[in-house]
Amino acid sequence: MKSLAVLHASQLVTLAGPKRPRIGKELSELGIIRDGGLLVRDGKIDIVASSDEIEKTARGADIVDLDGRVVLPGFVDAHTHLVFAGNRLDDFERRARGESYEQIAKAGGGIWSTVEKTRAASEADLFAQAKKHAEWFLRCGTTTVEAKSGYGLTLDDELKILGVMQRLNQETSLEVVLTFLGAHAVSCGTSPDEYVDLVINKMLPRVAKEKLAEFCDAFCERGYFDVEQSRKILTAAKKLGLKLRGHVDQLTNSGGAKLMAELGATTADHLEKTDELGIAALKSANVQPVLLPGSVYALGSTSYPRAREMIEAGLAVVLATDFNPGSSPTPSMPMILSLACTQMKMSPAEAITAATINAAYSLNRGDKIGSLEPGKLANFAVFDCEDYRELAYWFGVSQTHAVYVCGKNVVRF
Ligand code: NIG
Ligand code: FE
Repeated sequence: MKSLAVLHASQLVTLAGPKRPRIGKELSELGIIRDGGLLVRDGKIDIVASSDEIEKTARGADIVDLDGRVVLPGFVDAHTHLVFAGNRLDDFERRARGESYEQIAKAGGGIWSTVEKTRAASEADLFAQAKKHAEWFLRCGTTTVEAKSGYGLTLDDELKILGVMQRLNQETSLEVVLTFLGAHAVSCGTSPDEYVDLVINKMLPRVAKEKLAEFCDAFCERGYFDVEQSRKILTAAKKLGLKLRGHVDQLTNSGGAKLMAELGATTADHLEKTDELGIAALKSANVQPVLLPGSVYALGSTSYPRAREMIEAGLAVVLATDFNPGSSPTPSMPMILSLACTQMKMSPAEAITAATINAAYSLNRGDKIGSLEPGKLANFAVFDCEDYRELAYWFGVSQTHAVYVCGKNVVRF
């Protein structure tokens, strides 16, 4: 493969730094090179330097002149529900009329309505829809996503969803990291205890044996899985070698953050209702918080998680879209950066760190992606602006100019 020299980024935002998730003031250190460039060989970053330096070593390489645009590592979206059928337009309209997420779920909308559509869809139809959504992510500058199952809730339907995710990995340029979320809701017609047994005794052993997912997640919430049920499921998953993530304290402060700390989870996600005790518990167990302001916004709530307190407590904060048809129908990481700055008072630099290198570490891929450093994959996005802060500042408009995965141009505007 011919090497590639990328020249004249107004700001090459490298995120170079310690080989671990960033905390405290480190979240503000972006490692920017002005008039920066990259030399890419065999899909990996070989040299990161000023354009002058790169030009000297670029003999024989294909040259891309960025003409003063901003370059960032491809965004790493560490929490999505990428594979589902249909949409939830009716829920959306009901919320606009004032009904809550929980009320709508009780009245026949919610997760269950997406489960019914997903079960009825063929694998081919599910793949076609997911492929379109994978394109959306790439067009927003995201090159890796974590994706959760959870709209099947039977062994076969969960396997169908995990299979679609694996196909996305093989047939699109988006890297997909798989999470099993059989405990997303209790399947209708089954008692909660029966369903927990099914997840533990039938689904998890199959997922682990065939290595169908790296992580296991559970929705720990009133009306879904309580702390005890979540503990049972996640403990069983851990014994089978899966790493843990969890939907916790989204609608109520149920002690979910503490549970994730107790279990040594990799991440605790949502945390809208987590208090200082939950934050301290996460810190004591080094659990990374994954904050999802898109779901707060789209549910019409104002209850954003306490990002500033988490940063001050020394947590390695991650930002993600929570892309799903119910509570967060957006694939756009720039939109999440905007919400993080305006609603959670993170600085643009902190938000970018949370959406790249910290997210990469939360997926156990901090050594491969999330920053522009020699030896890492040449996954990067080029934006039509001069200053990285513009990504969080202008909202409702796409600024993506081009996206590269392993040095290959996969999106161009
Ligand atoms: O992260 N909270 C649970 N799961 C999703 C919503 C899924 C849905 O409504 O379909 C979330 O917000
Ligand atoms: Fe979610």
